[in-house]
Amino acid sequence: MNGDQPTLAITGSRVQLLLRRLHSLSEAEEKSPSQRFFYLKRLIRFLLFGEIWSISAEKHMQNKFAALDEQKCQFIYLLARSMGARHVIEAGSSFGVSTIYLALAVGQNVHQKKLDSATATVAGKVIATEKEPAKAAKAREYWKEAGAEVEDWIELREGDLLETLKIEEGMPAKVDLVLLDIWTPLALPTLKLVQPKLKEGSVILTDNVGMASFLYKDFLGYIRNPENGFRSLKVPFSGGLEMSVYLPQAEEP
Ligand SMILES: C[S@@+](CC[C@H](N)C(=O)[O-])C[C@H]1O[C@@H](n2cnc3c(N)ncnc32)[C@H](O)[C@@H]1O
Repeated sequence: MNGDQPTLAITGSRVQLLLRRLHSLSEAEEKSPSQRFFYLKRLIRFLLFGEIWSISAEKHMQNKFAALDEQKCQFIYLLARSMGARHVIEAGSSFGVSTIYLALAVGQNVHQKKLDSATATVAGKVIATEKEPAKAAKAREYWKEAGAEVEDWIELREGDLLETLKIEEGMPAKVDLVLLDIWTPLALPTLKLVQPKLKEGSVILTDNVGMASFLYKDFLGYIRNPENGFRSLKVPFSGGLEMSVYLPQAEEP
């Protein structure tokens, strides 16, 4: 957290404290010597063998938070609020830290929409995804601890997201916001899977595109090519956060 400052996300002290605790745990893990060594090893293996990911890397990360840092989470929350995003997909949820911010935003956007349109039924949710059962269980625990303002707005799809995101039941017709915080080889296939669901003007956020640009080569080649329907740039957060807007109808004046 930013020193003792409360999070920018609008929420009560229970969720504030939970977020503080989870960010501290994740940061401590990221800064640990073993985790730093892991990232160094990944870089060396890429440089020597062109290896992008491996079974042993997968195993190593099986019980790691790898949560987005607080600044990025706050940015995502504020962006989601400003867009009024109600239909959100999160690719890679881990212990559900970023999901909490997305769920707060979605719940608050639904509430706002109800007030603005005087309609009782307004839909919205975060479709979270996680393939590690132990992580999914822990995420559910944290969301429960956060309470209804978070838990009620999440549908967690457990298993390989390249399969679970194909399930039409419960999938909104159009998606406002996608957070891609997934192992790099999955970024492009996931984007292509959700692309038919994207609303004009929807936003895709992808983590670590600066730090891991060598691993994101294909993905960035695709999303930064306007012919594929996106306008995209790297926002200079730590590690780099790609912000892409889906504008498939865009025409030059
Ligand atoms: C970087 S972490 C997500 C962190 C989370 N967004 C946060 O900020 O709290 C990426 C997660 O994606 C999960 N994952 C990897 N491959 C997956 C797949 N094929 N389907 C679903 N989840 C997957 C990993 O287990 C890991 O927990």
